[in-house]
Amino acid sequence: MLVDPDVLSSYEHDWTGRFSGRSSCVVRPADTAQVAAVVRACAAVGTPLVTQGGNTGLVGGGVPSGGEVVLSLRRLTDLGEVDRAAGQLSAGAGVTLADLQRHVRAAGVEFGVDLAARDSATVGGMAATNAGGIRVLRYGSMRAQVLGAEAVLADGSVVSRMGGLTKDGTGYDLVQLLIGSEGTLGVVTALRLKVVPLLRSSCVALLALESTQAAVDLLPVLRERLPQLAAAELFYELGVSLVRRHAGLPAPFDAHVPAYLLLECLDRSDPSEALLDLVGEAQGLLDARVATDAASVRALWAYREAHTEAINAEGVPVKLDVSVPTATLPGLVEQLPEVVAAVSPAARTVLFGHVNEGNLHVNVLDAGEEHDAVTEAVLQAVASRGGSISSEHGVGRAKPAWLHLSRSQTELAAMRAVKGALDPQGILNPGVIFA
Ligand code: MLT
Ligand code: ZN
Repeated sequence: MLVDPDVLSSYEHDWTGRFSGRSSCVVRPADTAQVAAVVRACAAVGTPLVTQGGNTGLVGGGVPSGGEVVLSLRRLTDLGEVDRAAGQLSAGAGVTLADLQRHVRAAGVEFGVDLAARDSATVGGMAATNAGGIRVLRYGSMRAQVLGAEAVLADGSVVSRMGGLTKDGTGYDLVQLLIGSEGTLGVVTALRLKVVPLLRSSCVALLALESTQAAVDLLPVLRERLPQLAAAELFYELGVSLVRRHAGLPAPFDAHVPAYLLLECLDRSDPSEALLDLVGEAQGLLDARVATDAASVRALWAYREAHTEAINAEGVPVKLDVSVPTATLPGLVEQLPEVVAAVSPAARTVLFGHVNEGNLHVNVLDAGEEHDAVTEAVLQAVASRGGSISSEHGVGRAKPAWLHLSRSQTELAAMRAVKGALDPQGILNPGVIFA
C-alpha cells in the first residue's frame, strides 16, 4: 500500500496528460485473494476504487477523479504454459502485451491482438476496454481472444471461469459481460486466452493513394484476394510530418500524398508475391514502397506506430476514437477538419486509423479552451453517420456525456440495471462509462 504523495503521482495522471485526480492510496495486491480482500475492505466502508493496469489507456478510465483507492494490478504477472491441445494459456491481469507475446512466441504460437502500446498495456486493461489494435481484421478484438476469466465482484466475492471451454451454453456469459466493462462491473484478475498460429513471414507495403476513397475501394479486393492480410492502416500527411519531426524519419515519398495505406501480410511462407500482385493492380495508386526483411518492415511501420507519441509530443490533444460504417469513412475524413475549424479555428486535426473497421483516431491539437466543443462537433458528425463515439479505447471519463449519441435510452437503462445489480454501492470505477 503506497501513500507517499511523490510515489502516488504516477498513478494519478494518465499517459496523455489529459486526466488526473488525487487518490487516497494505491494498493498493489499480488494475487486474486489479495485483490478480493482489498475490494471487501472497500465495500465494507463504501470506499470507491479505480482499477489500473499499465496506465496507458486513452480515455481516463484508469486514473482517480478524486479520493478513490487506486487498485494497481501490475503485480499479477503469472503466465501459464501454453496448452497445446486447446491452443490456450492463462495470464495474470498485470502481464504486459509484450511479455505475453515473448512468452507465446517462445512456445511457437502468437497472440491475436497487437497494438503500439504493447510494452505498457496489460492484458487485464486490454480486456476491460475490449482493446482492438492493428490485427482486428484478421483475429478480432480482445473479446474474441478471451475464453475465460477470474474476477473479483464488488462485494469481494470471486468468480472463476478459467476452464477454457470454447463451447459453453449455460446461460449468461459473465466473462464476456466483463470484457469492455472498463472495471465498472468487476475486477478482472486473470484471463484464459486463445493463441493463434505464429506466422514469421511478413511483407509490408506502404501505398501512396490519391484519396481515402481509393483505400476504402481496395478493401473488398483485399478481403477477397489476400487471406494473408494482417493489417490495413490509414494515415495522412499531417501525421507523417509530426512523426518525421519527432522520430527524425525521412520522407517516405518525394511527392505530396493524399492518403497513406499500410498493408501487412503474414504467412508461413513469403506472402510478398500475392501482396505485390495486388498492389500492382490497385486503383488510385501514386507510389508504393515494399519491405520484407525485419528492419525494413519496422521502418515502414514506424510511420504509423509513432503517431500517438508524436502527437503527444506536440501538446495534449483532444483524443477521439470513433468508428463509422466503412463506406462513410471518406466523407467523414473530408468533413472533420471543417467541423473542427468551425469551433476551434487554430486547431490541427490529425487523423489516422484502422481502415477495415471504419475506425478513425481523431486527434485535435491546439484546441485551446474548446475541448468540449471540439468533442461535441466531432462526435455529432460521427453519430449522424450511424457511427460509434468509441471504437476501441472505451468510454472512460472522457465520453460519458456523449454516450447517448451511440446508445438508445432503452440500452442505457439496461446497462444501468446491470451496473446496479453487480455494483449496488457504485464503488467500482465511479464516473467511468456513466457520468
Ligand atoms: C493506435 O491505433 O495507435 C492506438 O489506438 C493509439 C491511439 O489512438 O493514439
Ligand atoms: Zn487504434
